[in-house]
Amino acid sequence: MLIREAKFITSNSRADQCPPATLPEYAFIGRSNVGKSSLINMLTGQKGLAKTSSSPGKTQLINHFLINNEWYLVDLPGYGYAKVSKTARATWSKMIGFYMRQRENLTCVFVLIDSRHPPLAPDIEFIDMLGKEGVPFVLVFTKADKQSGSRTQQNVVDYTRKLSETWDELPRYFITSAEDMTGRDEVLGFINEINKQ
Ligand code: GTP
Ligand code: MG
Repeated sequence: MLIREAKFITSNSRADQCPPATLPEYAFIGRSNVGKSSLINMLTGQKGLAKTSSSPGKTQLINHFLINNEWYLVDLPGYGYAKVSKTARATWSKMIGFYMRQRENLTCVFVLIDSRHPPLAPDIEFIDMLGKEGVPFVLVFTKADKQSGSRTQQNVVDYTRKLSETWDELPRYFITSAEDMTGRDEVLGFINEINKQ
């Protein structure tokens, strides 16, 4: 799919203040520093569109980007960062929980997972929550450039094995790298397919 235009619209702390829910919406979530903002920049081909940082906790709000005047990409703040206070954690849970449950045009959530790690509790808990709430989601294994393809594949297998302990149906997944653009065509093709339906 050709991205003709990608523009920042708003940052919000509340789902009910987000832009009107009239267009299909795809949101990116995952642990802090997993590469959500970088992936949005890679997909749109605009390096500085979403703010990125080497230290976790950069994205703090619900950020809407309008693509081709037809659909939204949403950059969300991450979870699982150890140095976050209890209060900040509760604020995150409330904001994201409300967004995931209430956002009517939320078409698919991309749950980003660092392809270098074994299954981690915060990710599994978040995926379980989405499954229980019936929120449509897929998995994205990020930073694939940081290790060999066979290592990534092994971690994907370990992940799906872990999820199959709880879920009969396993989510679709993508492998990406914001560095070398791995997975760009696949993710954009997937969004395009859904938008056409
Ligand atoms: P928060 O907003 O803090 O939750 O983080 P985030 O998930 O948005 O991560 P961000 O995109 O800011 O990236 C975090 C760090 O990882 C930055 O230093 C990025 O350059 C790096 N990074 C992200 N994606 C990739 C990737 O695919 N490959 C490599 N090598 N580095 C990546
Ligand atoms: Mg971010």
